[in-house]
Amino acid sequence: MQDYKVLIDEKTVKDRIAEVGAQIRKDFEGKPILAVCVLRGAVVFYADLIRHLPKTTGLDFIAAKSYGSGTTSTGEVALTKDLSEPVRGRHVIIIEDIVDTGVTLTYLKKLLLAREPASVSVCTLLDKPSRRKVELVPEYSCFTVPNEFIVGYGLDYAEEYRTLKDVCILEPWVYQKD
Ligand code: IMP
Ligand code: MG
Repeated sequence: MQDYKVLIDEKTVKDRIAEVGAQIRKDFEGKPILAVCVLRGAVVFYADLIRHLPKTTGLDFIAAKSYGSGTTSTGEVALTKDLSEPVRGRHVIIIEDIVDTGVTLTYLKKLLLAREPASVSVCTLLDKPSRRKVELVPEYSCFTVPNEFIVGYGLDYAEEYRTLKDVCILEPWVYQKD
């Protein structure tokens, strides 16, 4: 039995990323950007997006763990990998795979804001606003998705499905059996 179905195909995703990339270029013209990838889910999106950003864009990586199991998180976040670059005076864009409850990004924004950047904004591939627990509106969002569990294009379920080329919906029977 097929365990996932395509929600947004690869071409549609790439076209939309080009649009959002162009918007960011315009908004940050002449300003130093530090593009921060939230590991691991955002890596595929990040690799596509940064190629639409100016050549002066700095790259860095951060990782956070939100406690929980299966398809839900408990709301507690911990940093598992910090940045290598200083952020002071730079325009930080946090690049994330999906904003769900908003807890992870609220934590990361606060952490980076304390280091006195010129600004912090959020660019997400997917936004699932129906599940928000804290107020977090991403400055840039490629697609709004329904309240389903999404996999592919870097997003995982139990560390699998990340390599799927399209943004897909995981069939509920896969995680409901857990
Ligand atoms: P938050 O609930 O906004 O803090 O999101 C925490 C993290 O949960 C995201 O960065 C994703 O890694 C993961 N997550 C939330 N919803 C989904 C989903 O539908 N598929 C895969 N991962 C998800
Ligand atoms: Mg993530």
